[in-house]
Amino acid sequence: MNVNLPDEAATIACAEQFRKALPPNPGGITVLLEGELGAGKSTFARGLIRALGHEGAVPSPTYTLVEPYELRVGMVYHVDLYRVAGEEELRFLGWHELDSGLRLVEWPDRAPELANSADIRLVLDFDGPGRRLEIQGLSEDGHEILARMAALNG
Ligand SMILES: Nc1ncnc2c1ncn2[C@@H]1O[C@H](COP(=O)(O)OP(=O)(O)OP(=O)(O)O)[C@@H](O)[C@H]1O
Ligand SMILES: [Mg+2]
Repeated sequence: MNVNLPDEAATIACAEQFRKALPPNPGGITVLLEGELGAGKSTFARGLIRALGHEGAVPSPTYTLVEPYELRVGMVYHVDLYRVAGEEELRFLGWHELDSGLRLVEWPDRAPELANSADIRLVLDFDGPGRRLEIQGLSEDGHEILARMAALNG
């Protein structure tokens, strides 16, 4: 599925729609956020975390790797692996602590093992002054989210 995102507000609106397409209990779902530097991955994650009910700031996890949020739908983990050199570094991270939450992962290519068990992939691309988003379902859960997204897009 492809979505045109002419400006930042469109990215945030799309994240709000994605929130509506999630199951009521999204724990255990992994969302990959891919795209070049500045493609809008964090903007989408921030929009989604706010749509899930978080009211404060959404700091970048670039240095902390993981920012946790305790929300109505359960734990949400915003992960940014940009600074991670390889999977070896991640062995010490305690991924399993994140298992029961909704995981939003920027730069998942740093952790192929995580990427391989993901449910849905969002790829952002530059498109003139705006962006283009491609969404791919990777699992049964992912395909269900995608189908609900498509229905919401009418
Ligand atoms: N649809 C859009 N059209 C135009 N600009 C956008 C759109 N979505 C986000 N932006 C802008 O793109 C810039 C970069 O966004 P963001 O930080 O979310 O990118 P990122 O992919 O997370 O980057 P990084 O790889 O550095 O983490 C921001 O200034 C944001 O406002
Ligand atoms: Mg980012």
